[in-house]
Amino acid sequence: MTQPPPFAVISGAQVQEAIGGREEQVTRMVEAAYRLHGEGRTVNPDSYFLRFPDRPSSRIIALPASVGGDVGVHGIKWISSFPENVAAGIPRASAVLILNDTETGYPFACLESSIISAARTAASAALAAAELSDRRDGPASAGRPRRVGFVGAGLIARYVHMYLAANGFAFDRLGVHDLSAEHAEGFRGYLERSGSGTVTVHDRAEDLIRSSDLIVFATVAGAPHVTDPGWFGHNPLVLHVSLRDLSPEIILSAYNVVDDVEHCLKADTSPHLAEQRSGNRDFVAGTLYDVLEGRTRPPADRPVVFSPFGLGVLDLAVARYVYDRVAASGALNTVPDFFHELKRHG
Ligand SMILES: NC(=O)c1ccc[n+]([C@@H]2O[C@H](COP(=O)([O-])OP(=O)(O)OC[C@H]3O[C@@H](n4cnc5c(N)ncnc54)[C@H](O)[C@@H]3O)[C@@H](O)[C@H]2O)c1
Repeated sequence: MTQPPPFAVISGAQVQEAIGGREEQVTRMVEAAYRLHGEGRTVNPDSYFLRFPDRPSSRIIALPASVGGDVGVHGIKWISSFPENVAAGIPRASAVLILNDTETGYPFACLESSIISAARTAASAALAAAELSDRRDGPASAGRPRRVGFVGAGLIARYVHMYLAANGFAFDRLGVHDLSAEHAEGFRGYLERSGSGTVTVHDRAEDLIRSSDLIVFATVAGAPHVTDPGWFGHNPLVLHVSLRDLSPEIILSAYNVVDDVEHCLKADTSPHLAEQRSGNRDFVAGTLYDVLEGRTRPPADRPVVFSPFGLGVLDLAVARYVYDRVAASGALNTVPDFFHELKRHG
């Protein structure tokens, strides 16, 4: 007789132990998940946003998904964003992820998922940065960007920097801009501790953008605050991770790559605003999968903007890996009798 699987709880410390220092491997996992998604071997319905009338800055998002291929798992990430947490001394985002068995549908694990979420977001950004800069038109001597700038200096910015470094990016100059001088200084400290390059804190986003060839947006802005396409006249590569920083004019003047067109052109993201402004989706050159498959090639003579909505399939792929590693190490903490009412007629 089939038995339900044991139900495991995996802590953040176990997640960190499983993926810490394995940034390249996580990036390859994320690439494989994008390929499965591009081949139609995933199910990734719309994310569901729970919002609160009395607390408009906060939200909790549900990302249900299913991944085929070697990953072979269903599940859901349930992730809160409460930006005021930061002032209270705890991270903005907190999350759990449930893995479900593909045969029985039974949930078999609950994982702490803020680390998984940050890691997959950073892996996706670093993968896009590598593919878009290596495949960009122009002289090979142009090479990868060596001047990076971070607009928004929180946890995601730190993870993106870590994943860029692990994926072969090396920087001579690093810029930081944050509305909070304290956050900017904290991130400057992290950058200085973590390696080479001159770090400059910019008071104005314009100065950072004009002096960077690779720009990472990781703010919590709810509406565009960067509006002048002229700031991007040097055609930088932009990782628009926080999705709502750039005006429609900037998006419409750029070569745009997204993770998934249907997902990304929703929820008042900058590409969504650009679609409303232009009345069409012609400004989207393709998805990251299209780039990986060589179906579209980034030009040298326009800014290149990657806007990743964030797909649940990426979280599931990384979570499955974490589960397998923890299980293989014999450290899985299961909850005895979690599924209890198992006899049909008592
Ligand atoms: N696309 C994805 O898949 C994905 C995944 C995870 C997180 N994110 C997004 O990444 C962003 C950053 O997350 P985090 O956990 O690092 O948040 P965080 O709160 O730790 O840091 C955000 C920082 O941005 C700064 N900031 C806010 N508005 C700014 C502005 N207009 N200009 C400059 N700085 C500004 C804040 O002071 C803060 O230091 C969030 O918007 C989150 O939704 C995206």
